[in-house]
Amino acid sequence: MKQEYFERKDKELFCEGVAVKEAAREFGTPLYLYSASHIKERYNNFEEALKGYPHDICFAVKACSNIHILELFARAGSGFDIVSGCELRRVIDAGGDPKKCVYAGVGKSAEEIELAIEKEILYFGVESVPELERINAIAAKLGKTARIALRVNPDVDAHTHEYITTGKSENKFGLTADYAEKILKNFKEKYPNVEAVGLQIHIGSQITETEPYKKAVLKAAEFVKKLRAQGTELKYFDIGGGLGIVYKDETVATPAELIKEILPTIAELGMTFVCEMGRYMVGNSSMLITKVEYVKENPDKTFVIVDAAMNDLIRPALYEAYHEIVAVEDKDETFVCDVVGPVCESGDFFRKDCQIPKVGEGDLLAICSAGAYGFTMSSNYNSRNRAAEVLVEGDKMKLIRKRETYEDQVRNEKTCR
Ligand code: LLP
Repeated sequence: MKQEYFERKDKELFCEGVAVKEAAREFGTPLYLYSASHIKERYNNFEEALKGYPHDICFAVKACSNIHILELFARAGSGFDIVSGCELRRVIDAGGDPKKCVYAGVGKSAEEIELAIEKEILYFGVESVPELERINAIAAKLGKTARIALRVNPDVDAHTHEYITTGKSENKFGLTADYAEKILKNFKEKYPNVEAVGLQIHIGSQITETEPYKKAVLKAAEFVKKLRAQGTELKYFDIGGGLGIVYKDETVATPAELIKEILPTIAELGMTFVCEMGRYMVGNSSMLITKVEYVKENPDKTFVIVDAAMNDLIRPALYEAYHEIVAVEDKDETFVCDVVGPVCESGDFFRKDCQIPKVGEGDLLAICSAGAYGFTMSSNYNSRNRAAEVLVEGDKMKLIRKRETYEDQVRNEKTCR
């Protein structure tokens, strides 16, 4: 197992001091079970690596947006990377500081921009000229100045899945350096209610090596120097998110290794370091606990049909992502099977042809590394209630999201009668 806070004791799986079986008994399945200690440790790893240097660590809310999880980050002093008005509202509800929020995304609406300006977020990561014009107009209307960081596309290949690579020039994200340079010329005259305070890059997700970061940071640093020569001073150097985790047997750079490689370049410029890690912070904090409904033995294949489905964790279906599956209680034998959900699609699988302990009806399985882009990408497809979420710390369990009910699902439909 790759998740430090999940371990086997006496032939059964524990999350910190809690027996997974107990959590499943109390809260039912499917269940997202999170380790608070893991999240705190991961955040601290970045804090440690950046100690003594001016920085803001902004947790990428999209990876895991439960307000109780956000509260852990807020208490640790974290900032947040948001991509919608409702993510900002979640941060505020969790006790997070809106002034430590950076706001990314190519399609920010007028309402979202207004909310973010009113809450005085640290800056908007600006992705286009029309967006900049909109921010300026809204700030003017509110009699305020909005801060922005231009998102520059460094055109670097992050060596990751094509759906989650974002730093190449053909992606929809960011601006080319040339274009950003043009935008920054006579900036104050063109956008009197906007202050350009930073430069942001983000090259992709589940990046395991330091090399792509290094390349991108070097390119961006050259750009900063060019801007300085033209009289534009920026304070924040935002490297985006993307540091990977171990799903299978990957060797992944640590925050210390990453920071060691890139901080000197940023320090030379005297800029404040900002990062927007999501997956690194929470990916291995959680397992999705699911119960075996049926074992279906076809002549040429065995299917283990579980009560979780692609609506609960879509990563295998969407990205062919690997998620290890372990049994909650040890078994003497193993078998080869497909672990699938009840949704009416062939894409509804968690693993195919995998060798797992020989489980039967009623046994529990744990789908590993489910903390990032797990619950947040879940849906009600097939009118399935979304799973419950439980946070564990030591030997304490706390329900942090009730299992959805049928009534929750149809509330906004029934009230239309
Ligand atoms: N900053 C920006 C501007 C981003 O677009 C993202 C993620 C992050 C930070 C956080 O990236 P992370 O540190 O988590 O890699 N659903 C996909 C991942 C999509 C990532 C989107 N952007 C998955 O399940 O793998």
